[in-house]
Amino acid sequence: MANERTFSILKPDATRRNITGAVNAVIEAAGLRIVAQRRIRMTREQAEKFYEVHKERPFFGELVEFMTSGPVVVQVLEGENAVAKYREVMGATNPAQAADGTIRKQFAESVGENTVHGSDSADNAKIEIAQFFTDADIAA
Ligand code: PPS
Repeated sequence: MANERTFSILKPDATRRNITGAVNAVIEAAGLRIVAQRRIRMTREQAEKFYEVHKERPFFGELVEFMTSGPVVVQVLEGENAVAKYREVMGATNPAQAADGTIRKQFAESVGENTVHGSDSADNAKIEIAQFFTDADIAA
C-alpha cells in the first residue's frame, strides 16, 4: 500500500490534561508522520458539520458540546496504510474495549471523551482534511 493520509483530532480531554505531546509520541512511534498540525477552538458550526453523519444519534448534542468545550489539535497524518494504521493505534471507540498499548487504552476517559478521532476511510479522510487544511498547510 502506497503512502496514504488520514485526518486526526486530539480532542478537548487531551488538551485539558496537557497530554498532546504524549499522544503524538505514540502516533510517531507507530511510524505515522504528522505532516500538518494546528491547535484551534472548534466552532459549533464546524463541529456540527464535521459530525453531521451522527446527527440522528442520541449522543449528537453531547458530542458537539464536548468537541467545542476546549481547544483541539487537528492533524494530517501520513504513512503506509495510514487510515487503518491510525485506527489500530487509536483503539476501540470505547476505551474499556481498547487493546493494550492503544492511545484510548492508555489515555481515554470514556466513550465520549476518548482523546482522539481518526478518519474511517481514505475517502472520508480527504473530506475531513479539506474541512481544516489547504494543500499549502501540509508539508510532507
Ligand atoms: S465509530 O468511530 O464511528 O465507529 O464510532 P461510533 O460509536 O459510531 O461513534 C462515533 C463518534 O461519536 C462518539 N460517541 C459518543 N460521544 C458522546 N457520547 C457517547 N455516548 C458517544 N458514543 C460515541 C465517538 O467518540 C465517536 O467520535 P469520533 O470523533 O468519530 O471518534
